[in-house]
Amino acid sequence: MKIAVIGTGYVGLVTGTCLAETGNEVLCIDIDQEKVNKMQNGEVPIYEPHLDVLFERNIKANRLRFSTSLEEGLEHGDIIFLALPTPEDEDGSADLKYILGVADNIGKLIKDYKVIVDKSTVPVGTSDKVKAAIAKHAKVEFDVVSNPEFLREGFAVDDFLKPERIVVGSSSERATKLMEKLYKPYVRSGNPIIIMDEKSAELTKYASNSFLAAKITFMNEIANFCEKVGADVDKVRIGMGTDSRIGKRFLFPGIGYGGSCFPKDVKALHKSGQENNYNFKILDAVINVNVRQKLVLIPKIENHFNNDLKGKNIAVWGLAFKPETDDIREAPSLYMIEELLSQGANITAFDPEAMSNVKRKLGTKINFANSMYEALKDADALIISTEWSIFRTPDFSKMKDLMVGHTIFDGRNLYEVKDVVNEGFKYISIGR
Ligand code: UDX
Repeated sequence: MKIAVIGTGYVGLVTGTCLAETGNEVLCIDIDQEKVNKMQNGEVPIYEPHLDVLFERNIKANRLRFSTSLEEGLEHGDIIFLALPTPEDEDGSADLKYILGVADNIGKLIKDYKVIVDKSTVPVGTSDKVKAAIAKHAKVEFDVVSNPEFLREGFAVDDFLKPERIVVGSSSERATKLMEKLYKPYVRSGNPIIIMDEKSAELTKYASNSFLAAKITFMNEIANFCEKVGADVDKVRIGMGTDSRIGKRFLFPGIGYGGSCFPKDVKALHKSGQENNYNFKILDAVINVNVRQKLVLIPKIENHFNNDLKGKNIAVWGLAFKPETDDIREAPSLYMIEELLSQGANITAFDPEAMSNVKRKLGTKINFANSMYEALKDADALIISTEWSIFRTPDFSKMKDLMVGHTIFDGRNLYEVKDVVNEGFKYISIGR
C-alpha cells in the first residue's frame, strides 16, 4: 500500500519505518529541511533500539523515502498518517495547532479519496475537529480515523511490529477495511484489531496511559508508606503482583514517572475532564503525588549531609527518564539535579545515551563523565536515577576506592539491600 506519514518525530519515524518493513511504500514528510536531508542520507535522528537496521534496509529497498512537501505526500499516499506533536499548553491541555494546521492544508491540497489517520495522542473530539478543518476546503470525499499508538520508548519497534492490540476508531466501512488490510501482517499471532468509534479510540489512549501512571503512583505511595512502618515494598509488590487481577507489571516504585507521554497525557485528560464539566479527582492526585515523588530522595540526601550540601560532590548514574532511550523529557534526574545545584552541590553525571541532550539543556552547570566509574571520582555520594542494565552489577570495591563517601541513594531499587550493605556502603533506596 502507499502511505504518507506527516511528522517524523519519534512516533512518525517508527510508524513509517515499520510500515515500510512489511512492504508498504512509505513517504515521510517533515517541514525541517535539515532533518529531511539527514534522513535521506540514512541518518536516524533519534536513538531507538533496532530502528537503525530497519531504517537502512527500507531506504535501500526504496520503500522508505523523505520529503518536505505535504503536496507530494498527499499525491503519494492512499493513507495519510498524522504523527504531529501535541505539546502541553500552559493550562495542561493538548495544543492542537500543528494537527489542525496540517488538516487545513490537507483540505486545500486533497484531490482524491484519502484516509487521514490520526496517530498523535489527542483529546476526545479531535477527529471531529480534523474532519471539519479538512472539509472547509476539500472538494472530494475523505475519511478521518483515530489510531492511537501504544509504543514504549526503547521497545517501540517491537511494539509496532508485534502489538498486543491495535485500536482503530472509524465510522466509515471503507476506511476500516483499508486499516484492517494495512495492519493484518502485524497481528498474525491472533492479537486483535479493535474497531470502535473515533471518540472511544481517542479516549482509550488517554485512559490507558493515565491508568498506568496511576498504577505506578499508587505503588510509589505504598513504598513511601513502607518506609514509615518498616515494611519492604519489594515483598509487598510481589505479594500483590501475583494476583492476576493486579498483574506483576508497572508495580515498580521509584522516583516518579517521566517521559513524553505519561506526564502530558494525565494532565491533558484531567484538563479534558474540566472542559467537559467532569472533575477527575484521581488524576489530580496522580499529578500531585508524582511531582512530590520526583524529589523523594532529596530529604534523605539533606538528612545524610546534615542539611549542608554546599561543595558536596554528588555523582549521578542515569539521566534519561528511563533506560534504552536518550529522552530526558520530564526526567526525574533533572528535577533532582536542579534542586541539588540550588543547594550548592557539585554534580558529575554519566548516562549511556542521554548526556548530549542534557549538555544542551544544562551546559556547564554540571560535569559529564566518560564512564560510570569516572563519575564516582572523589564523590561524597552516588544517586542512581535510571535503571540502565550497565548499572545493575557494578564493581563495588572499585566504587569504594573511587568514592570518598560510601553512600548510594538508589531511586530505582537496583540492588538487594543486604548485598550493598555487605559491600560496606550506606544504601538508601525506595520503600525498603
Ligand atoms: C508510555 C506507554 O507505556 C506507551 O504505551 C505509550 O504509548 C507512551 O507512554 P513510555 O513513556 O515510553 O511509554 O515509557 P514506559 O516504559 O511506559 O514508562 C513510563 C514511565 O513510568 C517511566 O518514567 C518509567 O520509569 C516509569 N515506570 C514504569 C515506573 O516508575 N514504574 C514502573 O513499574 C513502570
